[in-house]
Amino acid sequence: MKKQTLYIITLLLSCLTTFGQNSKIPSSIENIEMKIDSVLSLMTLEEKVGQLVQYNGSWDLTGPASELGSKQKEDNLKNGLVGSMLNVLSVEATREAQKLVMENSRMKIPLIFGYDVIHGYKTIFPIPLGETASWDLDAMERSARIAAIESVAEGVNWTFSPMIDVSRDARWGRIMEGSGEDPYLTSVVGVAKIKGYQGDDLAGDLTIAATAKHFAGYGFAEAGRDYNTVNLGENELQNSVLPPFKAAAEAGVATFMNSFNEIDGIPSTGNKYLQRDLLKGEWDWKGFMVSDWASITEMIDHGFAKDKKHAAQIAMNAGSDMDMEGGAYESSLAELVKEGSIEETLIDDAVKRVLRVKFKLGLFEDPYKYSNPDVKKNISYEDHRKEARTIAAKSIVLLKNEKQLLPINNTVKSIAVIGPLANDKDAPIGNWRAQGEANSAVSVLEGIKGAVNKNTKVEYALGTILGTSERSFLLPLDINTSDRSGFQAAIELAKNSELVVMVLGEDAFQAGEGRSQAKIGLAGLQQELLEEIKKVNSNIVLVLINGRPMEISWASENLPAIVVAWQLGSESGNAIADVLFGKYNPSGKLPVSFPRLVGQEPLYYNQKNTGRPTNGEHVTYSHYTDVKKDALYPFGYGLSYTQFEYGDLSLSRTEMNSENNIEATITIKNTGKVKGKEVVQLYLQDIIGSRTRPVKELKGFQLVELEPGESKTVTFPITTKMLEFYTANRVWEVEDGEFNIFVGGNSIDLKSSNFKFKN
Ligand code: BGC
Repeated sequence: MKKQTLYIITLLLSCLTTFGQNSKIPSSIENIEMKIDSVLSLMTLEEKVGQLVQYNGSWDLTGPASELGSKQKEDNLKNGLVGSMLNVLSVEATREAQKLVMENSRMKIPLIFGYDVIHGYKTIFPIPLGETASWDLDAMERSARIAAIESVAEGVNWTFSPMIDVSRDARWGRIMEGSGEDPYLTSVVGVAKIKGYQGDDLAGDLTIAATAKHFAGYGFAEAGRDYNTVNLGENELQNSVLPPFKAAAEAGVATFMNSFNEIDGIPSTGNKYLQRDLLKGEWDWKGFMVSDWASITEMIDHGFAKDKKHAAQIAMNAGSDMDMEGGAYESSLAELVKEGSIEETLIDDAVKRVLRVKFKLGLFEDPYKYSNPDVKKNISYEDHRKEARTIAAKSIVLLKNEKQLLPINNTVKSIAVIGPLANDKDAPIGNWRAQGEANSAVSVLEGIKGAVNKNTKVEYALGTILGTSERSFLLPLDINTSDRSGFQAAIELAKNSELVVMVLGEDAFQAGEGRSQAKIGLAGLQQELLEEIKKVNSNIVLVLINGRPMEISWASENLPAIVVAWQLGSESGNAIADVLFGKYNPSGKLPVSFPRLVGQEPLYYNQKNTGRPTNGEHVTYSHYTDVKKDALYPFGYGLSYTQFEYGDLSLSRTEMNSENNIEATITIKNTGKVKGKEVVQLYLQDIIGSRTRPVKELKGFQLVELEPGESKTVTFPITTKMLEFYTANRVWEVEDGEFNIFVGGNSIDLKSSNFKFKN
């Protein structure tokens, strides 16, 4: 016994006393596990609970603030009763907080510092929905890498990103934060982002821990209203919502965050099946689960827990490891263990998970590793902005281009740049902007002025203002619906210009948390302004600055050219100009369907056939009587300045089994006059299943660049994994039967073939 204690103490000393000395020595997994056990064995129950408590550093509140005053918080830090803080920014501030723990607490377990670094830290990249439109996984990994480097420079070692909630509802404000409606695309983008943040080794100098959030079903809020109830059957949960999370767990994401919503009556924070049985059990994932902001305590409002103590008991039993600013674990966990209402082994497991991430980050070797002022000195923010411009250009989607308005010819004499967002340097920064400065983006006007030659006159008119209130994360927006004072000047300008670039869309904070909308058209007086301008000049290129799919049916019918520019971040205006003037040939494709009318939402391409897809001449089939049921612009859609011609789709065989895969091959030709990039998309349909299957599902894609006149052959290996789904047997497996296969440049215009699978 004595010998064992001595061993533990020696081990512990060896890891606690070598801070700063051996941060380059990679710790083997076994080694880390032994260290974790040693540390745990020396902790009191109160210290263990402390590791499961996260405090806000007081910036960027996203929910009700903790009841604790700052003196009490400081004392708790000193006493080792806090495991993590969020929103503590700058190396000085994190060093300060870390010192409180390291110099005063008994166990000296370093804090981990979290922050919402969603699309960049200081250099802002396109919002995730926009960036996904690039379908360029390397680019997305790269933007996450840059975000990680800039975070490390400010003391942050943990980002609450990527959000991998599949969402099919444009009304939901947080659709901007994810990768859209498709589980496969969301999975591969999520994995790319995790790789970017975490690198190959979390112990590396410039890597940070990532978070797969929100587990689970948050994107399926009823009626697209944020935080609303979710009713998800097992089929949708398993086949549509969970795959990105499984991929993230397999990719080794360090942490998960649970979600505010309930599913079928069980709040996710209290969902034992999801957190303990599936994620930590079946998937064997070893990281830790942080609650969403106060989501443990919110189980009281859900009507699931009677008080904080009860909420803490439910959450811990269910597998929520860390309490974000909710105060429930801090006030009740120790008592619950002492009275026998919670097994201490559950607390131990949660603490081990937290310690594991801290060990992996190298914090035990050097708790100040992420509080190093030299990192910032070595960053070239200028270079980061250059990369942001490239990625932003790749994210732009060209929806319509008639009358050859685009790319803008450099013989054009005069361009009118009109609209409330035309010279707005803030809207492109979007929501969840971390430390991206307000008004720091290149505006469209600035971008265009920088791109035209000296013979082209560029003039600007505001037309109308979009919002009248101060912009901020928490405050509601006040959309302008009466001020038309700028209309006349804009109309005059349009009348006297050869070409009009209208820049309309959404304010920076129209999408994001708590920003759901029942209307998704052009807000305020923008539509009216657009129609007035059209009366005097029909050579209009509409540039949309948007955080969600918008209802743009009028524009689609009446305007010759439409460009979706999302909220593209710091270099927005330059990237837009690159596309408008043909310096970058657009290659983006929609990661989400654009509806004809908001009443179609939720709208998604991978829907079910239903029992009544058609019914001859009769009205009794699944449709609307007042609007077509399909998307205005479907998932996967996007034009280029060149054209691509797809040849026939050929299969290496028409039968496959688990030993013999088949290959699908197609030839693509650039039939236009300029070089271009195409996202070649592969979809499959399992025609008959023990559960009904979607009409098609994305299963792969490849980016192909072609010179004018060039052809390339693209091959997709069809693997058994692509054919699997969560069947009526409640397992992931392939069922024998016939499959349709489709390949093309969007989810509608596709070449097809079919094959059989037999085990
Ligand atoms: C959001 C999370 C976020 C957290 C911390 C919550 O309101 O739902 O996504 O990470 O706040 O800011």
